[in-house]
Amino acid sequence: MSSWLAPTAAIIGGQWGDEGKGKIVDLLAPNFDMVVRATGGNNAGHTIVINGKKHVFHLLPSGILYPEKLNVIADGVVIDLFVLLEEIRELEKNGLRVENLRISANAHILMPYHRILDVAREEKLSGIGAKIGTTGRGIGPCYADTAARTGIPLRMLFDKTALHNSIRQNLEEKIALLAHYCGYDDEKIRHSFSNFISENEITASYLARINHALASSGAAPTLDTLALVLVDIYAELGTRIQQYVTNTTALLHRAHAFGKRILFEGAQGTFLDPYHGTYPYVTSSHPTIGGIIAGSGVARISQTLIVLKAYTTRVGEGPFVSELHGKDGDALRASGEEYGATTGRPRRCGWYDSVMARHAAAVNGTTEAVLTKLDVLSSLEKIPVCVGYQYTGSPCFADKAYKPGMELRTMPPTNIMAHCEPMLMELPGWKCDISGARTFAHLPPAAQNYVRKLEELSGVLFRIISVGKERDATIIR
Ligand code: IMP
Repeated sequence: MSSWLAPTAAIIGGQWGDEGKGKIVDLLAPNFDMVVRATGGNNAGHTIVINGKKHVFHLLPSGILYPEKLNVIADGVVIDLFVLLEEIRELEKNGLRVENLRISANAHILMPYHRILDVAREEKLSGIGAKIGTTGRGIGPCYADTAARTGIPLRMLFDKTALHNSIRQNLEEKIALLAHYCGYDDEKIRHSFSNFISENEITASYLARINHALASSGAAPTLDTLALVLVDIYAELGTRIQQYVTNTTALLHRAHAFGKRILFEGAQGTFLDPYHGTYPYVTSSHPTIGGIIAGSGVARISQTLIVLKAYTTRVGEGPFVSELHGKDGDALRASGEEYGATTGRPRRCGWYDSVMARHAAAVNGTTEAVLTKLDVLSSLEKIPVCVGYQYTGSPCFADKAYKPGMELRTMPPTNIMAHCEPMLMELPGWKCDISGARTFAHLPPAAQNYVRKLEELSGVLFRIISVGKERDATIIR
């Protein structure tokens, strides 16, 4: 394909995640030697459809279905070992090898107390109407430990003394938080640890071990019992993935020096970035190009493609200017099958927002993009596009530049965005099936016009346009 593809390229979400990055990574992977995940954890859900079969990966890079490509989970990813082992088992059950996987010894391990704390905090915050709407996978607490330097890097699983010290310290802190801040009693704490992950073939025996230890601990403190059993379990999980563990930064540097082609797979989207997104309604790693560089240790990435859906969706709380409420939103959700790949939650839906698209292009330093799910809009008579925001809030004391009633063409901070109305421009729909189009010229004139208008408004060029779920339902320009 694709003489325009650079030897090192990154695929980044340009909205709030769920833009369809998985399909694009899977599509481009044949042009590369390696596919790298460098951020996020199993809050992500990357969906790939091949021959009608749907594969959803939460942790494995989306190049894993190509046995000849090396797939790397780099330092910046947080790993729930139970989820990873389950994904590997699922692939092996379908006759696929996963010898092509490498995992950084520096990646941090997501522990049961991270998941438990994530859910407990959300419960507590929801009581005061301030929940984030997280995926409940423990992502925030795990990255918080990384930043606080109390996390557990994968390599620690092979040093039982260090592992015990760290788990013991962490449990002391987390159980205090659960008990005193979240109001969990002893019984609820025990129950949470015995059920922290859903039961399947991989987890069942481990959950039974935790249960057994807690039940037989009698009057002994939960903390010490838990520490011992978790050390045993996580040391054992370490040995189960040991064959994949390596220094991925060195591996990537070597590969780069030898001219290997490397594709970096972003997770989530630009507006879930803690700095550049709609804070605090964001995730806890950086889904932007900055996050990929920090998370992989590779700074020389020559090309960044941002993925933008032909409309906008988000899951969880937070402002969403072009959001559709009522039956229009329901209709878009139904045609786009907009339900979370990780949690199954219905996604909030709205029109394409060119203010967001321009910001995503700027933050990620690119003018190259991918447009996905254009086919989902095929039944619409008219298609509104958000071209600006009108600020309807009160005078802003933090930044006096924002005045009530003013029109905005650039991304405001979250508190301003929460009080903005969309300025919409209506474009004509095409009202026919476009899923068979394989070149831009095959698209009906109204669809071509829609794409060109989005490019003009967003300041990007759509190199790839996706018109269906399958790999081949794609236009490459
Ligand atoms: P967390 O990453 O689970 O802490 O969730 C924080 C916010 O990011 C919530 O609004 C989630 O719905 C959102 N989020 C996290 N991962 C994804 C994703 O892969 N797609 C879309 N939204 C996500």
